[in-house]
Amino acid sequence: MLKIGALVSGGGTNLQAILDAIDSQGIAARVVTVVSSKEGAYALERAAKRNIETAVISKKSFNNSLDYENALIKHFKDRNVELIILAGFMVILGKGFVDAFENRIMNIHPALIPSFCGEGFYGLHVHEAALKAGVKVTGATVHFVTADCDAGPIILQKAVDIEDDDTPETLQKRVMEQAEWVIFPEAVRLFAENKLVIKDGKVRRLK
Ligand code: GRF
Repeated sequence: MLKIGALVSGGGTNLQAILDAIDSQGIAARVVTVVSSKEGAYALERAAKRNIETAVISKKSFNNSLDYENALIKHFKDRNVELIILAGFMVILGKGFVDAFENRIMNIHPALIPSFCGEGFYGLHVHEAALKAGVKVTGATVHFVTADCDAGPIILQKAVDIEDDDTPETLQKRVMEQAEWVIFPEAVRLFAENKLVIKDGKVRRLK
């Protein structure tokens, strides 16, 4: 049984999609702890409803990034967490944390990487940028996390058509429904079944 730790900052719909998929698809995994970067994140309530342990570990309560990341590392190591999911987590993690869980951290990004990604591309900004560029297709990407923001090995991507009358808000909603909530649980399933291999910085999917 794969032990998963989640890092969240907001509504937690991706976390919910993963919890639901674990149940409905019988994925051999369990979310054992959900850590929020701030108080009041609705994701914490979603976890509590499932009797999953919750915690708030906020960066601003530490003197520096190193102490903050060490606290996160200890939290997950103490619980023998084997996979960390960044499910709408709004903090960029440094090398210390990433190295402690090498190839064991997954993030969901609401665009087709390498488009509209990197520092500053979060939340609605991503969809604003896609609409501004006039692209006709966007989507979502699940990738392993490395120290370079949004640049780790890509696990899964799913495209979503852009409509002429889309606003950042309508596009964000469609990308979540059609892409994020589909590919994030799927990536977790593949990881739990040991079907993801990283070679030369790329993910290969075993049959
Ligand atoms: C999603 O759009 C995700 O791609 C981004 O943050 C948002 C989180 O939503 N990283 P939720 O908290 O999972 O509802």
